[in-house]
Amino acid sequence: MRRIIFLTLIICFIISSFIFADEEEIIVEETTGQELIEMPVKNEIKESPVEYEKDFLDFIKLRTEKFAEQDMCGECHSDIFKQWKGSTHSKAFIDPIWRAATKLFYSESKTIGQVLEIKLCVNCHIPLGFTSNIINLPIDNYNRLMELPEQGAFCNWCHNLKEAVNIGGEGYMDADTTEAYSSTMLGPRDDPRWENPSKDNKAFHPSEYSEFYSKSDFCGLCHNMYQPDNKLPIVQTYDEWKKSPYNTNDPKTTVTCQDCHMRQKPGIPATGSTLRPDNSGQAADGGPYRDNIWTHYFAGGNSIIPKLLGSEMHSYLAIEKLTNSAGLEIIRDSSYEKGKASQIKVKVTNSGAGHYLPTGMTAIRQMWLDMKITDRDGIMIFRSGAMDKEGNFDKNTILFNTVFGNKNGEPVMNFALADKILYDHRIPPMESVIENYSFIIPENTVFPLKVEVILKYRTASPDFVKKLQVDKVSNTEIPVIDMVSLTEKIDL
Ligand code: HEC
Ligand code: HEC
Ligand code: HEC
Ligand code: HEC
Ligand code: HEC
Repeated sequence: MRRIIFLTLIICFIISSFIFADEEEIIVEETTGQELIEMPVKNEIKESPVEYEKDFLDFIKLRTEKFAEQDMCGECHSDIFKQWKGSTHSKAFIDPIWRAATKLFYSESKTIGQVLEIKLCVNCHIPLGFTSNIINLPIDNYNRLMELPEQGAFCNWCHNLKEAVNIGGEGYMDADTTEAYSSTMLGPRDDPRWENPSKDNKAFHPSEYSEFYSKSDFCGLCHNMYQPDNKLPIVQTYDEWKKSPYNTNDPKTTVTCQDCHMRQKPGIPATGSTLRPDNSGQAADGGPYRDNIWTHYFAGGNSIIPKLLGSEMHSYLAIEKLTNSAGLEIIRDSSYEKGKASQIKVKVTNSGAGHYLPTGMTAIRQMWLDMKITDRDGIMIFRSGAMDKEGNFDKNTILFNTVFGNKNGEPVMNFALADKILYDHRIPPMESVIENYSFIIPENTVFPLKVEVILKYRTASPDFVKKLQVDKVSNTEIPVIDMVSLTEKIDL
């Protein structure tokens, strides 16, 4: 709807610029007369006159750029800026996996429902492209957003949300973003102030307290997605959290997304099974010291993209998160005998994540159990979860992920084509699953047996990356993270 109004406006503008050449001035005044002027912005664009000969889209671009330049935020919020800059939030639009996936998925979409789904792709990954009408569709030339490609989910967008509707639904498109790009920054403080402003930093933007920022609902805007057509859940992180024991419905005891993802810093993984201490410091350079400042690393399980795009630190933080997410336990039978069919069970507990393990784009992510039983002399008795050179698993591997299927029940990687869920095996928060392995102990086995089990994770399967032909990400580069491991001996 908004887009229709917008297009009408463009057409009206073009027509009127021909007919009423004099009215240009009025229009320019209206569009530049925003509150942002109050912001102490060091931006030439603000001072320079609007170039009339540029077309309307350029004009809008200029305007949005002026309001959205992130480096400007970094002039005062230097720590938060650095944390955000290396995060996948800032890389969401230049992420080569996302770029390749959207282009490919778009080319495969045929029905209206599928195209509708693909149209959504840009919303969460590049809200600036979407709101400025420069990048609306994966078919658009992504390089059109030339000067500010590294926006992704950016400071201004996140800090201008007055309220939001359809949280946890298929898009924040309906959210009240009319305030977007205004100079008022909404956030968790009701007492924002300078303690020690430098000479040229006497003033800062107006701010407004909003409790919305400290709620998981805020993250739910983008971390929950349904196929718009058939309502098939694609990403369910927010819904998973909402139903979990971490959500007590009491703000005092609820553990929010922010509690785990915005308390993390190097050495502090901040998960359900580790401490989540306050992070004392300053939110702005020259601002007051506070007991807790919310960090902006936003680390999850993705250790490929941050490293590929320049931040080893953020990859490391993802690994710290993953290695503090789960617990393993080996459950043995009462006795084991040579020549007999035997069983051993492995209990995997989601002890650290506030949602399913794994969560998010679980059609792409893979978590699995690597299980090995050898005898005293190292002779292999049982193996599951091994990988070949191409990175493909043994047939008997226990995988934790989601597989989507099309109308005919055939597996599809493109979730826009998905009509059903063929397989969804993951672990709910604070819950466990028990996996059973059967094997035969050969007569010549020398006890004790050695049972080695490792829970492993990778951001994407080699198949997926190969299919996408992702720039720069070759199969071998997909790191496999050992989340947790356990070794036990079994005597006769
Ligand atoms: C409602 C918001 C939203 C929409 C709409 C959306 N995404 Fe995403 N996307 C996310 C979030 C959140 C993540 C991170 C989740 C995770 O880490 O598992 C993500 C991650 C991804 C990734 C993984 C990137 C990586 O580096 O591993 C790909 C690929 C992707 N999205 C493709 C798409 C495509 C294709 C579309 C359109 C069909 C789309 N997204 C639409 C929110 C969205
Ligand atoms: C001239 C310096 C300056 C610039 C530039 C600046 N800020 Fe701030 N900002 C501050 C100061 C000072 C505070 C108050 C810090 C405190 O009280 O701990 C603050 C507070 C905030 C808050 C918390 C508001 C609240 O009430 O909870 C947010 C959010 C924020 N800034 C976002 C931004 C964003 C986004 C940008 C870039 C568009 C930006 N700031 C640019 C100085 C600045
Ligand atoms: C994905 C959304 C998102 C992005 C992007 C984002 N922020 Fe925030 N920011 C938040 C949330 C949510 C909080 C409050 C967390 C809470 O209260 O639990 C916050 C808190 C803050 C605060 C107050 C910190 C404190 O503890 O006093 C400042 C200042 C701030 N952000 C500035 C920025 C700047 C500058 C950028 C860009 C470099 C940025 N934010 C990017 C979501 C975001
Ligand atoms: C504007 C939409 C948007 C909002 C709001 C948002 N995110 Fe994200 N988030 C994304 C997208 C898109 C990605 C994936 C980017 C990529 O990898 O291409 C992402 C990635 C992440 C990741 C890393 C995922 C991984 O695989 O490692 C974490 C963690 C995360 N977000 C947490 C949060 C939290 C916590 C909040 C709330 C404070 C939040 N996000 C709010 C869009 C959003
Ligand atoms: C109790 C702590 C905790 C809470 C609460 C929590 N998370 Fe996480 N999150 C984790 C841990 C640990 C991981 C790493 C394991 C994994 O990938 O699931 C993680 C991973 C992620 C990932 C990356 C998933 C992947 O495998 O690609 C995203 C995205 C994410 N969280 C978003 C959120 C959002 C959004 C919320 C709130 C709705 C939230 N988290 C609440 C602990 C938490």
